[in-house]
Amino acid sequence: MNDQQQAAPEQMVFPVPEDFAKAAKCDKARYEEMYRRSVSDPDGFWGEHGKRLDWFSPYKTVKNTSFENDVSIKWFEDGTLNASYNCIDRHLPEKANDVALIWEGDNPAYHYSITYQQLYIHVCRFANVLKKMGVKKGDRVTLYMPMIVETAYAMLACARIGAVHSIVFGGFSAEALAGRINDCKSEWAITCDEGVRAGKSVPLKANLDKAAEHCPGLKGVLVVRHTGGAVDWVEGRDIWYHDAALDVSSACEPEVMNAEDPLFILYTSGSTGQPKGVLHTTGGYLVWASMTHEYVFDYRPGEVYWCAADVGWVTGHSYIIYGPLANGATSLMFEGVPTYPDVDRFWRVIAKHKVNIFYTAPTALRALMREGDEPVERHDLSSLRILGSVGEPINPEAWLWYHRVVGKERCPIVDTWWQTETGGMMITPLPGAMDLKPGSATKPFFGVQTALVSSEGDLIEGAGEGNLVITDSWPGQARTVYGDHDRFIQTYFSTYKGLYFTGDGCRRDEDGYYWITGRVDDVINVSGHRMGTAEVESALVAHQLVAEAAVVGFPHDVKGQGIYCYVTLNAGLEPTDNLAKELRQWVRTEIGPIATPDHIHFTPALPKTRSGKIMRRILRKIAENEFGNLGDTSTLADPSVVDSLIEGRKVR
Ligand code: PRX
Repeated sequence: MNDQQQAAPEQMVFPVPEDFAKAAKCDKARYEEMYRRSVSDPDGFWGEHGKRLDWFSPYKTVKNTSFENDVSIKWFEDGTLNASYNCIDRHLPEKANDVALIWEGDNPAYHYSITYQQLYIHVCRFANVLKKMGVKKGDRVTLYMPMIVETAYAMLACARIGAVHSIVFGGFSAEALAGRINDCKSEWAITCDEGVRAGKSVPLKANLDKAAEHCPGLKGVLVVRHTGGAVDWVEGRDIWYHDAALDVSSACEPEVMNAEDPLFILYTSGSTGQPKGVLHTTGGYLVWASMTHEYVFDYRPGEVYWCAADVGWVTGHSYIIYGPLANGATSLMFEGVPTYPDVDRFWRVIAKHKVNIFYTAPTALRALMREGDEPVERHDLSSLRILGSVGEPINPEAWLWYHRVVGKERCPIVDTWWQTETGGMMITPLPGAMDLKPGSATKPFFGVQTALVSSEGDLIEGAGEGNLVITDSWPGQARTVYGDHDRFIQTYFSTYKGLYFTGDGCRRDEDGYYWITGRVDDVINVSGHRMGTAEVESALVAHQLVAEAAVVGFPHDVKGQGIYCYVTLNAGLEPTDNLAKELRQWVRTEIGPIATPDHIHFTPALPKTRSGKIMRRILRKIAENEFGNLGDTSTLADPSVVDSLIEGRKVR
């Protein structure tokens, strides 16, 4: 390893530790053999691995998918099962007293554990409360919840009765929440009085009340008491969970669901202004979430596993709840943030609960790396066996720090590339099978047929760089955009006919390793949160003083990307610092704190072609401070705009 440390980080190779390969679920030879079979005989391979779940009635058909024309994706289509049954009931004979969830509060004094038996009772009671409210199979239920165990109960209770949950991250504003409730015609919502983050309360119920003013279809709101903070109450609509749960049974038969019945909707950003309700179904998704969780984390029974994401994102769905619980694992749920009450919180939690597998995002690592090694070294992290990374490209410096300081050069790092639409991990190391290269997500998981194409759509063979596509379906794939299948086809299957287009750029090296280079569309990744620049633009132009706005990402040391907004005010208005402040606040209210602009750059005009198209390429370069390399500006209607933009950038 010493030799390597002389090399440039991208050229380093960290071989699978020998003892690790021996004990791991999958070594190199096994990976090669399984991968080959998974793509040459998908029916045989998935027919076998689908059996990792308990089915009420077994499937006969395994794969029935087409990326052509109308795009139709079905897996295990004649099988029936229930996701909640698979995450709870089937473990009870052997694991009733094993811990399913460890909850660690924002306040370090608060923590407790829930066994599988207790989880069963809580979820059944929650399911019976939902039924009593009138929630039926197929109904959409919007969850606007913090990181508390009741959120897990609510998700699994929906799954138990066949309702479709749609979780909206607690960092989204009332406006954003209303849009998502209305889009999926959700008649039901679940929230809690307040969330808590870094000692401060988050007014979830109050935000939901505000959202509800714009949601005429909302019939019932179930409210979990968490902090005990005061809330407004709408009689006839709002129901306290603890009241409703008083007289319900602790048993609830799981609904028999078809493999292709919807399990959940999750809204995500694309290159247009309106977020898409990505729909996942039951059978294929659960096979994918559980199999990737087991193989990628090399999960062993009894281990404590911690994914530090929020359940409001897909990572929380697949790797806090569905994957680990389907595998009978112990999954830690953390309510707080990495830096509260101190910058050593992550490491404190790992030591406290003897965490074996830890999964987080590069943005958190970069922020913690800045605090130096000492906060990590305060704690005994010897329980750690595997480290994971997700959400954005991990820069080699952060990778090396994670490996050396957190993992003490013992723990393989699994850098997992995937998306809301993929349901689970797609390109990722298996820790016993892949030598690691810092910054590379390595190779595809079983059944994932990756390819690179040029912008003209030509396939790139061997080493090279292009746009990342997937050429055939995998069980965890999203089936549609809720209520708008045409948009699904348009977004993912029209750029390259017959191929799933990921929206990511990617390089493949001589060893067949994949290096994700980031989005090639108008999507940016801010602190691991995916955002459409068009969403921020529509928020800005909704302000009465704004005439026009163009938003781009720019490199940010901690967040990965920051939000840079070019704003043109209505004629006759002078930009001021106060107005910039007001616009930042405005975007927070329209979308949520995660979309807060880093820079507001007032400009009298935007660079446009003669046909009126904004040249974003130029705006990106200027935001990146790359003035020397602006490319061809001759097609601009008024090239002098560029000089004034550069002047404006220099003063920032
Ligand atoms: O650009 C890729 C980036 O995050 C995008 C997907 O975002 P989202 O749907 O919010 O899902 C995030 C959690 C899976 C991708 O298109 N991305 C995600 N993981 C990685 C990544 N980029 C590089 N390396 C990763 N490991």
